[in-house]
Amino acid sequence: MLSSIEQAVQTINNNECVVFPTETVYGLGANALCEECVSKIFQIKNRPPSNPLITHIASIDQVLEIATHLSPLEQKLFEIFSPGPLSIVLPKKYTIPHIVTGGLDTVGVRIPNHPLALEFLKQVNLPICAPSANISGKPSPTTFEMAEFYMKDKVSVILDGGDLDIGIESTVIKVIDHNIYILRSGFVTAEMIFEQTGIMPISTSKDFEHLSPGTRFAHYKPNAKVIVFEEDQPPNIFEKKSVCLKLSKKNYDVEFYTTFNSINEYAHHLYAIFFECDKKNITHIYCELPPNYSEGMALRDRLLRSAGY
Ligand code: TXA
Ligand code: MG
Repeated sequence: MLSSIEQAVQTINNNECVVFPTETVYGLGANALCEECVSKIFQIKNRPPSNPLITHIASIDQVLEIATHLSPLEQKLFEIFSPGPLSIVLPKKYTIPHIVTGGLDTVGVRIPNHPLALEFLKQVNLPICAPSANISGKPSPTTFEMAEFYMKDKVSVILDGGDLDIGIESTVIKVIDHNIYILRSGFVTAEMIFEQTGIMPISTSKDFEHLSPGTRFAHYKPNAKVIVFEEDQPPNIFEKKSVCLKLSKKNYDVEFYTTFNSINEYAHHLYAIFFECDKKNITHIYCELPPNYSEGMALRDRLLRSAGY
């Protein structure tokens, strides 16, 4: 399926959904101002209605079209990290229907850093809410092939952005009383935010689950069973017809393995490898866990969730 930005704009104006690339994962977008349009996202993905969507815009100038207020700190965060993989949860304006926000009075806002996404958002000139373009619970699409696999029977437009740069979802944050809470870890790390603002973000734990509804649901699961382990505590026995993803130089007794040079490289390829494993009917995927700090946090979170934790 080959589609152009013009077709994407027209499709949105016809109240339908489109698939478009961002730098993190492919998104399934709809006009965020139109309740009926947004309801199609939930139908297509089979997404629980209480899981709020991130709304995408082309520039900072549009933030106050969808949010009632932007504090100096939030403005600064947008200026530093946008366009880019950071979503900021802001008080929602009446223009955004509650279906977008899962009933919350806040809205997640992001300016994605992908030339096709930015051009599409500029031309459509509407806020576009978009979750990852997968069926709920499955790994997010990070290649055009994956996006087509999930969505070719469900939408008429899929913009081809090739293999995406980052490969895991944006960092979702919320500012409360000058504290920055990380609601979902992502490519932008706490350390990166601290370096730029002098404020060390607080990573949310179970205590803050109510702030981040999306983290309650099953996520990122391939058909294969994912088994995660710390590098110094590998499983005693490996299934033979399996794949192992790792950062260390250790050898394990598996048929296929991939050794990554960095955590970001591991994150970049993770979902596409899950997809390939399913195509090849691999039954077990063993994954070394990265350390639980800095850029390891987001990858570790995705691996633990895909293993069912
Ligand atoms: O990188 C990304 O963020 C991708 C691309 C397409 O932009 N989108 C994405 O959307 O990952 P999705 O729907 O898969 O995840 C949205 C996350 C969920 O964890 C949700 O709970 C959180 O954002 N979120 C959205 N709006 C929120 C709000 N108002 N309050 C708290 N969390 C919110
Ligand atoms: Mg998702």
